[in-house]
Amino acid sequence: MKKIGLAAVGSYVPEEKLTNGDLEKMVDTSDEWITSRTGIKERRIAPNHMHASDLAAKAAADCLAQTSTRHHPQLLIAATSTAEKNVPNQASIIAQKLNLSPLAAFDLNAACSGLVYALAVGWSLMQTQGYDHTLITAGEKLSRFVDYKDRATCVLFGDAGAALLLSADEPEHEILTVELGADPSGADLVVMGGMGDEFYFRQDGRNVFKFAVEKMGSLIDLLKARLGLKDDDRYFIIPHQANSRILEAVARNKRIPEERFISNIAKYGNTSAASIGLALKEAWAEQRFTKGDYLFLIGFGGGLSWAAAAIRW
Ligand code: UT7
Repeated sequence: MKKIGLAAVGSYVPEEKLTNGDLEKMVDTSDEWITSRTGIKERRIAPNHMHASDLAAKAAADCLAQTSTRHHPQLLIAATSTAEKNVPNQASIIAQKLNLSPLAAFDLNAACSGLVYALAVGWSLMQTQGYDHTLITAGEKLSRFVDYKDRATCVLFGDAGAALLLSADEPEHEILTVELGADPSGADLVVMGGMGDEFYFRQDGRNVFKFAVEKMGSLIDLLKARLGLKDDDRYFIIPHQANSRILEAVARNKRIPEERFISNIAKYGNTSAASIGLALKEAWAEQRFTKGDYLFLIGFGGGLSWAAAAIRW
């Protein structure tokens, strides 16, 4: 198997903040409820003229700026569930903006699992198609699909972009294994972007919460077993940032110290596919990881879908 590593991570968030205090003026809610139930304090909202593809392109530019020009991507997979158009796909818009050609480019929608799903697909195509560099993006403008009159959902989401560059060229931070899955019996539990009353984001929060806790726990067990990790191996979990109580529950169930879960949900809320990239970029910049650590990227969400990847730092 060809060795493939994570060469760089990029991110972008719009400037405008929407705080819990702002939301208190819009719907019947409180900073206390939002903080204690979700861990979120504020989120970023993109202006009208800024689309999901712009968020992804800015994150991709940030990512590519950290690597040498020989890292020209031959494949671009754009993970999104909030693309502003069906055609052209978001991947082509990003490639056009950043002048990335020739390359293969397509979109992938696996809701909040999208970034890790795309990483797994990119990694697999690199094994079979000979690509040496692959760009994975996640651009999400959730604010377009949020009903700001619905207190149950409007407190949860923010807009952001993230990008990963995978490289087979002297790979560092090697991707060791990936795992993908879906449980379509739960397909109606998270709905967004449809016709009529299915346009705004709606979910069965309690059942999705239960699914997320169980699935993240079982994926951690699966990755540890597959890699043969021992108790003294140090691993970090970079989970989809949906609710800090989900992470607390997994930490409790699996007896994992909470500091092993990377979280920045307080600042950005749930940014769907972008959230794992955003958290990874911040933790990398803060030098939270040392050589030999294991990183478990774990996404879950609509579909119901899940995706996990293990990386050796
Ligand atoms: O990224 C996609 C994947 N999604 C997830 O992973 C989300 C998983 N689910 C969750 O994170 C949680 O279920 C939520 C944060 C969405 C909701 O938290 P919850 O503890 O499950 O609350 P709930 O929906 O059961 O509502 C509890 C109460 C209700 O009032 P009653 O019926 O008990 O009187 C709600 O009306 O809280 C009320 N409520 C609010 N109150 C103040 C709901 N939203 C709010 C609000 N402010 N914003």
